[in-house]
Amino acid sequence: SSPIFTLNNGVKIPAIGLGTWQSKPEEVTAAVEYAIKDAGYRHIDCAWYAPSIFQIVLGQIDLLSRAYGNEQAVGEGIRRSGVPREEIFVTSKLWGTYHSKVEQALDESLSRLGLDYLDLYLIHWPIHLNPNGNDPVFPKRPDGTRDILVDWPLSKTWEQMEAVLAKGKVKAIGVSNFSQKKLEEILPTAKVVPAVDQLELHLYNPQHELVSYLKSKDIVPQAYSPLGSTGSPLLSDETASALAQKYELNTADVLLGYLVAKGIVALPKSVTTARIMANYKGAIAAAQKLTEEDIKVLDGVAPGGRQGRNCTITDVWIEGRSGQCTD
Ligand code: A2P
Repeated sequence: SSPIFTLNNGVKIPAIGLGTWQSKPEEVTAAVEYAIKDAGYRHIDCAWYAPSIFQIVLGQIDLLSRAYGNEQAVGEGIRRSGVPREEIFVTSKLWGTYHSKVEQALDESLSRLGLDYLDLYLIHWPIHLNPNGNDPVFPKRPDGTRDILVDWPLSKTWEQMEAVLAKGKVKAIGVSNFSQKKLEEILPTAKVVPAVDQLELHLYNPQHELVSYLKSKDIVPQAYSPLGSTGSPLLSDETASALAQKYELNTADVLLGYLVAKGIVALPKSVTTARIMANYKGAIAAAQKLTEEDIKVLDGVAPGGRQGRNCTITDVWIEGRSGQCTD
């Protein structure tokens, strides 16, 4: 089964989890059930708000999808798996319009999931959106400025995250899409150091410096889109494919095992049963087989990140709307 990492508060986390971002609610229940019951996953990653990237690009975000991510469907999949709740690691995330009301958002997530606690709760983005904002994604006012809560420092959001941890509603708290600079906005006053930072991390976006910084702070990096997401060029990368051939694995296995071997939690998303199974087994096998030398070679494939369409998720996002938040 999956390697297990230990978070800075002692909580154990399976190093391979099922990502559910962009999975449609009607598909995700079956995917989660299969992943847990048949493939052996014990870690599911979801979010309060889970728009598809195409919805964002096409501007097809509507209030319905805002108010309803895929948590309900994920919860149903967990129940249908028949595996006891305490054996499964469940993560959800705080959406930007809730930075000033963390406990309310968490309660909503718990009720949609049908759970009474989360294993891990993350600030989804270091962006505190107007709680009454009219565009749920990255709102812009007519003058082009973003509709964020300007008087709301991230340290206040973190205080509220610490409060729900203290209440026992979650077993660990962390952040997502936080750069070093954003972490430094909360660390000086934090009583609890974030357990994880979930980022877009993969062969073409390895973020070596940020990952080293996280390790120095005892913050576990988690990789979303570890395969580079839909339409990814990573799956035909020559270096990864050559290693896959050498070890009789799939290229996807090498991409996932590479992360796990580096101490990064990998969260591959799939709703296809064969891939759900293959990713889990393949990631475990590759993490065992890849040598230190192989890791070094893979680290050098795109040390500064590779530019170009589909090399990072954010390449396909509308300009100015996203990017790992560096400022
Ligand atoms: P599907 O859900 O139909 O299996 P990422 O985890 O990087 O976001 O990538 C998810 C995308 O990659 C989805 O489109 C998913 O499609 C696809 N995918 C997941 N696993 C594999 C795999 N082993 N080989 C090829 N494509 C995959």
